[in-house]
Amino acid sequence: MMDNKDVEAEIHPLKNEDRKSQESFGNRLKNEDNLKSMPAQSRLSRCRTVAFFLSLFICLFVVFVVSFIIPCPDRPVSQRMWKIDYNAAVTYDFLAMEDINRDKIQDVVFLYKNTNSSNNSNLSCADEGFSSPCAFVAAVSGANGSVLWERPVVQDVAFVECTTPQPSDHKVSSACILVGRPGSFLAVDLFTGETLWSHPSSFGGNTSILTPLLQVPDIDSDGAPDLLILTQEGKEVSVYIYSGSTGDQIGHRSSLGVDGVSGPLLHVTRTGAHYILLPCASSLCGCSLKGLYKKVTGRDGPFKSDPHWENMLNASTHRLLPSSGAVRYLMNVPGKAGQDVLLVSSQDCVLLDGQELTPRWTLGAAQVLRKPILGHYKPDTPAVVIENGTGINRQILLLDLSSGAILWSQTLPSFPGAPPPNSLPTADHRSAFFFWGLHELIGTNETDPRDARHSLYMFHPTLPSVLLELANVSANIIAFDVVLFEPSRHAAYILLTGPASLDVPGLVSMIKQKVRDLVPDSRVVHLGEGRPDSDQAIRGRFSWLRYRSEV
Ligand SMILES: *[C@@H]1O[C@H](CO)[C@@H](O)[C@H](O)[C@H]1NC(C)=O
Ligand SMILES: *[C@@H]1O[C@H](CO)[C@@H](O)[C@H](O)[C@H]1NC(C)=O
Ligand SMILES: *[C@@H]1O[C@H](CO)[C@@H](O)[C@H](O)[C@H]1NC(C)=O
Ligand SMILES: *[C@@H]1O[C@H](CO)[C@@H](O)[C@H](O)[C@H]1NC(C)=O
Ligand SMILES: *[C@@H]1O[C@H](CO)[C@@H](O)[C@H](O)[C@H]1NC(C)=O
Ligand SMILES: *[C@@H]1O[C@H](CO)[C@@H](O)[C@H](O)[C@H]1NC(C)=O
Ligand SMILES: *[C@@H]1O[C@H](CO)[C@@H](O)[C@H](O)[C@H]1NC(C)=O
Ligand SMILES: *[C@@H]1O[C@H](CO)[C@@H](O)[C@H](O)[C@H]1NC(C)=O
Ligand SMILES: *[C@@H]1O[C@H](CO)[C@@H](O)[C@H](O)[C@H]1NC(C)=O
Repeated sequence: MMDNKDVEAEIHPLKNEDRKSQESFGNRLKNEDNLKSMPAQSRLSRCRTVAFFLSLFICLFVVFVVSFIIPCPDRPVSQRMWKIDYNAAVTYDFLAMEDINRDKIQDVVFLYKNTNSSNNSNLSCADEGFSSPCAFVAAVSGANGSVLWERPVVQDVAFVECTTPQPSDHKVSSACILVGRPGSFLAVDLFTGETLWSHPSSFGGNTSILTPLLQVPDIDSDGAPDLLILTQEGKEVSVYIYSGSTGDQIGHRSSLGVDGVSGPLLHVTRTGAHYILLPCASSLCGCSLKGLYKKVTGRDGPFKSDPHWENMLNASTHRLLPSSGAVRYLMNVPGKAGQDVLLVSSQDCVLLDGQELTPRWTLGAAQVLRKPILGHYKPDTPAVVIENGTGINRQILLLDLSSGAILWSQTLPSFPGAPPPNSLPTADHRSAFFFWGLHELIGTNETDPRDARHSLYMFHPTLPSVLLELANVSANIIAFDVVLFEPSRHAAYILLTGPASLDVPGLVSMIKQKVRDLVPDSRVVHLGEGRPDSDQAIRGRFSWLRYRSEV
C-alpha cells in the first residue's frame, strides 16, 4: 500500500512542483539582497558541470576499455563435426565423457584393439608387454577430435567401467576400472591415461563379471569409495571387495548363495541402510552390505541394516520379494521421498517403493528386453522410456514415473544391435529423446534388416505427432551417445562404428556431429493426424531447442 501522501503526489504532481517553485522564488527574493554570493554560485554550478562531464567521460572510457580493448578470454572453438578413423581395428561398446584437457568441452574416452596406436603416435603393444593386437584406451578432444592420450592397457578387454567421484570426494580422480583377459585388473586415470594401480586378477577364466561395478562407501578409510564386484561362474555368484585407491582386495572372496543372472543394484533405504539387490530366478533377492562386509572380512563395518528389510529377507535364500516372472533389470529411480526401485521382469514392469518395497504401479503385458532410461515428458516430471518387444514390432512407450500412465507410444521398428534410446534435458525442463530405428518406419516389408539403413530419430514432447529423422547410417553401430559438450550449449552426438565381430578387424570410426546442424536436412515423419504445421516450421522448432546441463 502506498502512503496517502505519495498517492496525492501522484495525482497532483504539479501541486508540489508549484509549491517548490513558489518557495524557491521566495528564496530568490530573499537572496537578492545578497548579490555577492552570485558569482560563487555560478562558479559552483560550473564546477558541477565539469564534474558531471568528467565522470561521464570516465564512465564511457571504462565501458570502452572493457568492451573493446581488454580481450575476451579465449574460448576454445568446438568444431561442429569431426571424424577419426582407425584402420584394421575393432572397438568395444564403451564411451566415457570427461573434460580431460580442461577446456570446458567434454572429451571422449573409448577403447579399440589394434596393432599400433593411431597415426601420429608410435606406441605399440610390445611397448607394454602385450602381443599384437592389444587393447588401447584413447582419449580424444571433444573440440576437434585430436588424440589427447592413448596407450595399450590390456591384451583383451573383459570388462570396463569408469567411476565418477562424488562432488564430496575432491581427492579422488576419475578412473576407469578394467578387467583384462587374461587375468589383469587395473585402474587408469581418466585425465592422464596413467595406470593408478594394477594387479593380477583373481577371477577364474570362465568367470563373468556382473555389471555394473558397485561403488560402496569408503571401508578402508583411505578417502575413496571402495569397489564391490560380483562375479558369476556357472551358477555361483561370488562377491569381492577392493580398495578404491589401491585396488587391494579387502577380506576374501565369499559366495553369495544365490543364482543371480544379471545386473546388481546398490540401494540405500530411507533409513540409510545399504542393500544389494539382485535378480534371482523369479524373485528379487537382496543382502545387506553390513552382512556382506562381515562375511567377507569377519569384522563389523560402518554400515546399518534396516529392521523392516531384515524381516522381509529370507536369511537362507536371500529372497526379498516374489516376482511375476524372471527379473531382468533393476534400477534406482527418483521417488517422492528418496530413491524408488523400478523392476522389469519377463512379465511386467513394477515401480517399488524404496522403503516398503510395495508396488506403486504395475505395467503388464510388456516384453522389455533392454534397461529402461529416464527423461522428462512433462516439465520437471520424470518419465521412463521402455521398449516393448524387438525387431519390426518394437514399440516405444513413455510412462509417467509417478503413476505408470502411458504418455506416448509409437511403433518404431528396431534392428539387431541397435543402440539403446537416449535422452537429454532441454531448457523447457522436458527432454529431447533419441531413438535408433529402421529408415522405413511404416510399411516395412520383410527385407533383411541388416541390409537396411539405420536411422536416428529425434522426438520432443512439445511435438508429440512428429519424429525427426536426423541421420542415416549403414555401418555397424557399436556405441552411441548424445552429449552436451559444453554447458548450456548445443547438443552433439558421438557415434562409434566398427566391425561386428571382435575377431575380424576393419574400419573403426568415431564421429561427433552437432544435432542442430542435422536439422535442416532432416526428414520430418508425421505420426498420424497432427497439427498441419509445415515441415519447415517443425524443423525450425527443433532447431531452436535449447539444452540444459543435467542436475
Ligand atoms: C589417421 O590418418 C588418416 C589419414 O590421414 C585419417 O583419416 C585418420 O583420421 C587418422 N586417424 C587418427 C586416429 O588420427
Ligand atoms: C605398426 O607400426 C609399424 C612401425 O611403425 C609399421 O611397420 C606397421 O606396418 C604398423 N602396423 C599397422 C597394422 O599399421
Ligand atoms: C616415440 O617417438 C618419440 C619421438 O618421436 C621418441 O622420443 C619415443 O622414444 C618413441 N617411443 C617409443 C616407445 O618408441
Ligand atoms: C585441437 O584442440 C586442441 C585444444 O583443445 C589444440 O591443442 C590442438 O592443436 C587442436 N588440434 C587440431 C588438429 O586442430
Ligand atoms: C571353462 O569351462 C569349460 C567348459 O565348461 C571347461 O572345459 C574349462 O576347463 C573351464 N576353464 C576354467 C579355467 O575353469
Ligand atoms: C526361506 O525360504 C525357504 C525356502 O523357500 C523356506 O523353506 C523357509 O521357510 C523360508 N524362511 C522363512 C523365515 O520364511
Ligand atoms: C507390448 O507389445 C505387445 C505385442 O506387440 C502388445 O500386445 C502389448 O499390448 C504391448 N504392451 C503395452 C503396454 O502396450
Ligand atoms: C516387399 O517388397 C518387394 C520388393 O520391393 C515387393 O515386391 C513386395 O510386393 C513387397 N511386399 C509387401 C507386402 O509390400
Ligand atoms: C536417408 O537416406 C535416404 C536414402 O538413402 C535419403 O533419401 C534421406 O534423405 C536420408 N535421410 C537423412 C536424414 O539423411
